[in-house]
Amino acid sequence: MNQAAKRAGEGAEIPDLEALWLPFTHNRLFKKNPRLVSRAEGMYYETPDGRRILDGLSGLWCSNTGHRHPKIVEAVKAQLDELDYAVAFQAHHPLAFELANELTAVAPAHLNHAFFVNSGSEAVDTALKVALAYHKANGDGGRYRLIGREKGYHGVGFGGISVGGMPANRKAFASALIPGVDHLRHTYDREQMGYSCGQPTWGGHLAEDLQRLVELHDASTIAAVIVEPMQGSAGVIVPPLGYLERLREICTQHGILLIFDEVITGFGRLGHWFSPDRLGVQPDIIVFAKGITSGVVPLGGVLVSDTIFEAFMTGPEHLVEFFHGNTYSGHPLACAAALATLQVYQQDDLFARARTLEPLLEQAVHALRGEPHVVDIRNFGLAAAIELEPREGAPSLRALEVFQYCFDHGVMVRYSGDVIALGPAPIASADEIGVLVETLRAGLRAAS
Ligand SMILES: Cc1ncc(COP(=O)(O)O)c(C=O)c1O
Repeated sequence: MNQAAKRAGEGAEIPDLEALWLPFTHNRLFKKNPRLVSRAEGMYYETPDGRRILDGLSGLWCSNTGHRHPKIVEAVKAQLDELDYAVAFQAHHPLAFELANELTAVAPAHLNHAFFVNSGSEAVDTALKVALAYHKANGDGGRYRLIGREKGYHGVGFGGISVGGMPANRKAFASALIPGVDHLRHTYDREQMGYSCGQPTWGGHLAEDLQRLVELHDASTIAAVIVEPMQGSAGVIVPPLGYLERLREICTQHGILLIFDEVITGFGRLGHWFSPDRLGVQPDIIVFAKGITSGVVPLGGVLVSDTIFEAFMTGPEHLVEFFHGNTYSGHPLACAAALATLQVYQQDDLFARARTLEPLLEQAVHALRGEPHVVDIRNFGLAAAIELEPREGAPSLRALEVFQYCFDHGVMVRYSGDVIALGPAPIASADEIGVLVETLRAGLRAAS
């Protein structure tokens, strides 16, 4: 066991850390001072040496029922006694159909068909492929362009990074980005919308970017626009009033599909099943993952409209309609976890709880205004971001220091660049929101 591993566990059994290559992590620095959790329950993680850590980010925006909800755990255990794996192609298993039925029942009324994959990234690439193939099936195959948005995060597949707008995720792969992609400008302008509570009043006009791209490329070449209703990974960038509405209008006018990537915004993050329940703007396709199983077993997917689905259901019945899918599409354990999770959301009325907590979180985070290094604070649903002034010559290091302080003092937040993000689960108590924000305040004061 190496020294760092020993320190992390202080005597607890910790494996050697060398062989594992961690995702989206500074591996070398991490292994000098590893942050490990080995148990979790409700709002708390536990470290190998028994320290409790308040989870301020619902895992990675996914554990929306809190960790290890007993009903979800029980459902997964029971499923293991029945069916471990069912072949996904050319045969299937009843639970996946049940889940599709339950999910489409709570989804926007026109989204009546679900396709399952295993992650948000796969779901995004599935949605992009559905959009391209849909136009082709309609005899409109000249629509090959995909429009994303600056600062967008759509996972790590080649489709997702192509429509995504986070430079660091794209630059090493520039030669392999898919052709024919363009981007809307992002909607963040600190001067205009700094310290907004909820949706900014400025910025709705930026949706006209789409009209500009339509004029540039001609609508007949554009298949789809994909946006996160609220940009999560870029640091909680909230849609300006009127922005999504205008995107919808332009898409409808020009026969362009509108895809909402709701991997973060779905399943209670905005106090509802999906963003249309709150914002009233209806997409043609919803991409989901994370909260569908509350993080217990990986599952992602897309929900599509009847119009899209029907366009595929033509031709000889013995032929495959969509050449796409994964070995683990609709895995039985994932379906069992998802069905139980959907029930928990309803039985525990968690989205109503999220709506009750939202003003508490808003008030608490905005009370950090004026603390050292803070240059903006924003919030929407159970999501909030505190943006810090980057340290000169060392971007993101200050945020890392704050993050580390919080971890050392029993709170898990997330940092991305110089933004600290918070996304507690709807089961959080008012006191826990208080602890989360006050620990962060102390971290800001301690950071140099
Ligand atoms: C909006 C959005 N899309 C896609 C993804 C990718 O999901 P996954 O990490 O499950 O591949 C994420 C992950 O954070 C996300 O926030």
